[in-house]
Amino acid sequence: MCGIVGYIGKNQAAPILLDGLEKLEYRGYDSSGIAVINGQDINVAKAKGRLQVLRDKTGDGNDVKGTIGIGHTRWATHGEPSDVNAHPHLSQSGRFAVVHNGIIENYLPLRERLTAKGFEFVSETDTEVLAHLFEYYYKGDIMDAMIKVIDRVEGSYALGVLCSDYPDSFIAVRKASPLIIGLGEGENFIASDVTAILKHTRNIHYIEDNEIVVLTRDDVKVYNTDKEEIKKDVFTVDWDISAAEKGGYPHFMIKEIEEQPKALRETISPRIKDGNIVLDDVKLTAQDIKNINKIFIVACGSAYHVGVVAKYVIERLCRIPVEAQIASEFRYCDPIVTKNDLVVVISQSGETADTLEALKVAKSRGARILSIVNVVGSAIANASDDVIYTWAGPEIAVATTKAYSTQLAVVYMLAIYMANKLGTITGGQYKKYINELEALPDLVAETIENKDQLAYLASKFYNCKSIFFIGRNLDYAVSLEGSLKLKEISYIHSEAYAAGELKHGTISLIEDGTLVIAIATGRDLFDKTVSNIKEVTSRGAVVMGVTTKGKTMDGIADHVIEIPETSDIFLPSLSVVPLQIFSYYVAAEKGCDIDKPRNLAKSVTVE
Ligand code: F6R
Repeated sequence: MCGIVGYIGKNQAAPILLDGLEKLEYRGYDSSGIAVINGQDINVAKAKGRLQVLRDKTGDGNDVKGTIGIGHTRWATHGEPSDVNAHPHLSQSGRFAVVHNGIIENYLPLRERLTAKGFEFVSETDTEVLAHLFEYYYKGDIMDAMIKVIDRVEGSYALGVLCSDYPDSFIAVRKASPLIIGLGEGENFIASDVTAILKHTRNIHYIEDNEIVVLTRDDVKVYNTDKEEIKKDVFTVDWDISAAEKGGYPHFMIKEIEEQPKALRETISPRIKDGNIVLDDVKLTAQDIKNINKIFIVACGSAYHVGVVAKYVIERLCRIPVEAQIASEFRYCDPIVTKNDLVVVISQSGETADTLEALKVAKSRGARILSIVNVVGSAIANASDDVIYTWAGPEIAVATTKAYSTQLAVVYMLAIYMANKLGTITGGQYKKYINELEALPDLVAETIENKDQLAYLASKFYNCKSIFFIGRNLDYAVSLEGSLKLKEISYIHSEAYAAGELKHGTISLIEDGTLVIAIATGRDLFDKTVSNIKEVTSRGAVVMGVTTKGKTMDGIADHVIEIPETSDIFLPSLSVVPLQIFSYYVAAEKGCDIDKPRNLAKSVTVE
């Protein structure tokens, strides 16, 4: 949420900043701004709306001169989206310009104190407090001011700060909000994530909480709050630059849907060696696994939906009780977690605030934390005992697709791995599951080929006011994701229900023509779901059924979408695909802004 970028080098900063912000727009897109040092002046340009408005206002950045600058794309928290609330924020005298991602929790008392000292606030943001604080504490040394500012503020922040007294450097810091440092030749960068600077460099520093970074054209120095220099390792990012470009597709979402087979292959293949699952990054021993009392899965949104699939899969294979919990609930429910429990944390971004806090709660109670994360070096990855990375590459569309799919793949690998260690599956089952896991990317590719049918169905149903998704067990878990996908990008109201639960109240909403999407792939429960389909069709519902090729839904559902056959536990990876594609085409029919749905942003770093 909110993206920041900073540049110092020999080239004009503004066009580079705008280019970087374009890559970060998925993090927030209600306003944007840049500040550039030119001689002794800091020039600021800000605009409400999409980045294009700022581009138009600044002649694509060419009107804002200077070779050092910072930029920001915003998802509003404090104060409505407007030019004045957009970042960067200037201090009273204009000496400091600040971009900020995160939340300053004690901004109100700080604002009152600064107001009493004569500072005048022009915006409603928490960030403006930071700009004035820098000025208040500045006695000629920017590092001293930074140390004092971060000592005074509570909350989360990634900051880029320009000071007109320092026309050849700028300074940055982070705490619980992401920030990486990009190392170029005669130029250096800061950014919320690597996609913003991938075009310029692949060499980066990860920085820890409250490490202060001073960037000049030829050097980057990192200090602790005692002003001692810290040596940082240089990491080389191997993400393919084309992964962060649309590459001819109309939207990132459909590109990322189509990238799922590749993302799955890259997540699965390196972990299968000589017919065995090898989780190099997991230090859990066989004995540790045997000692697990209970598994909690904690996540938000789609990642939580992966957790619901995981509950069914791990319980079925490992016979360990599993509870899937929404992170924002878990962190405040005084959870009964002990040192004998394993807490699996799932997060694409690795920075979701509720998930990170839930992790800390579990850790403080002694539980072992295993996280499934897509972003290397992210806060959640850093705070975990074990990390299994999904190799989905950058996911730009706000609505997740390939990250969800790769999280599922990791869940399967973890479940099969643990079940093998526990002896709760036979050697034969273990081999069969591994073979099927390896075949999964091809089956997903085959499922994606059915796009035309889904585009046709979308053209028929895009005007629906409300759509229901039903299924049982694993099919129910997939219903949750199908329903979320549809509502977040097409703005059609939809609900996911356990198929057997509908008649306990919600069936009263079914009327003539209501679309019900019934997922009925599981072998054991197919007939049960068919009964539930009959309950809704007899009340006028139109049913779109999703099932495997071996089963027949003719005469049961009005429209049937078929997916390939595999073992039940893997079917969610296939049945989710038509739901993603259907949602995509419905949103396209409605002319929605598919990659940047209203009110949303990726990487939710606020509670
Ligand atoms: C929905 C979606 C969100 C995220 C959720 C968690 O399409 O993307 O529901 O799944 O915000 O985000 P991460 O996985 O980054 O923790």
